[in-house]
Amino acid sequence: MSTVIIVGAQWGDEGKGKIVDILTPFADYVVRYQGGANAGHTIIIGEEKVVLHLIPSGILHEKVKCVIGNGVVLDPQVCLEEIALLKSKKYLKDDSQLAISLNAHIVMPYHKLIDKLREESSGAGKIGTTGRGIGPCYEDKAARLGLRVCDIIDEKRFIERLKMVLPHKSAYVEKLFNSPPLSFDEIAKSNIEFGRRLKKYACDSVGLLNAALVAKKNILFEGAQGTALDVDHGTYPYVTSSTTVASGACSGTGVGPKAIGHVLGIAKAYTTRVGNGPFPTELNDATGELLRSKGKEVGATTGRPRRCGWLDLELLRHSKMVNSITSIALTKLDVLSGFDKLSVCTGYKEGSEEPIYKELPGWDEDLTNLTNLKQIPNNARKYIDFIEDFLGTPVSILSVGPKRGNNMIMKNPF
Ligand code: IMP
Repeated sequence: MSTVIIVGAQWGDEGKGKIVDILTPFADYVVRYQGGANAGHTIIIGEEKVVLHLIPSGILHEKVKCVIGNGVVLDPQVCLEEIALLKSKKYLKDDSQLAISLNAHIVMPYHKLIDKLREESSGAGKIGTTGRGIGPCYEDKAARLGLRVCDIIDEKRFIERLKMVLPHKSAYVEKLFNSPPLSFDEIAKSNIEFGRRLKKYACDSVGLLNAALVAKKNILFEGAQGTALDVDHGTYPYVTSSTTVASGACSGTGVGPKAIGHVLGIAKAYTTRVGNGPFPTELNDATGELLRSKGKEVGATTGRPRRCGWLDLELLRHSKMVNSITSIALTKLDVLSGFDKLSVCTGYKEGSEEPIYKELPGWDEDLTNLTNLKQIPNNARKYIDFIEDFLGTPVSILSVGPKRGNNMIMKNPF
């Protein structure tokens, strides 16, 4: 039995979906443990591009069971749309391939509304959320005002609970934002229908996963967002509302920490961020623009251009610490071809966020078709060596292009 947690080591968009796709053939289960439809995992298969927001990208491998854990906030409409999309592309032929935790919280229409109203009224303090209702849904979870999958699939229970919760939500939007009252009937009708269609996937995911551990199955935990967006360990308040770090895989699935074998930190060879908040190595110049265009850095969920900058090793050092990262998957190294010199941040000037840079020589060669580490140009090798030495952590997977084959596995974490 092996268990591997995939965790974003930066601000999300590190290319986790692709790494999950590479490792899924070795897994029996792929599990999402936090976040919701704010994530966007892009996988390119042949000429086909599939973007998934909620369903684990492992679903593209038919022998793998995919689980949406209790820590996820589930937008039922998005989930049903993804199911339909997958089926139209001849994936998810067998419905038992997907299991959704009975305890996962439901993103309700008022969560999305509150997310939007709050952002619109926040002026300069705006977080730059994805607008998917994530924060308001996690708030209700903690406030014990949430509705869960176990509620939505049971009409009577759902109605009772909604009757209790909706007045709180209605008062909030009406009084604070002058918004029209929320319609009980509309919300009840659409969600009962969603629940009816999702019921066949709902299950005791905690029991399912712990039984899988006993049966010595391999489990891949698929993180969403990244460490610097973690509600505790990120750049608060410019964060998402979930535990994105590796320990979230335990609380978000009911698998205990002693069952975790390996934590694979996914790091892009440079840094990007969407949304507001600090970003010490950001490049607001032609180099940043070049990274954005070469790396096609546009948000998979919102279509927003990503902010781009040099690799921040101090950030990765923090990520290594709070996640217990055992090895790194370095992605998009191919995007750095053609730069004369590359800067990497090795720390910040005392008492400030001003980066201290180390300059490394660039390389011109295209890396995309390389399949073996021996073919890597010297300076690209030096760049990888510098990262490994600085962090004291090996790079176990190297991704050098968007396609399924564009990668090298030095050491399989399974
Ligand atoms: P929320 O998760 O929609 O509440 O957004 C909070 C912050 O997290 C914003 O800065 C978003 O841009 C960022 N964020 C949320 N999901 C992702 C993601 O999957 N990739 C990158 N940034 C994200």
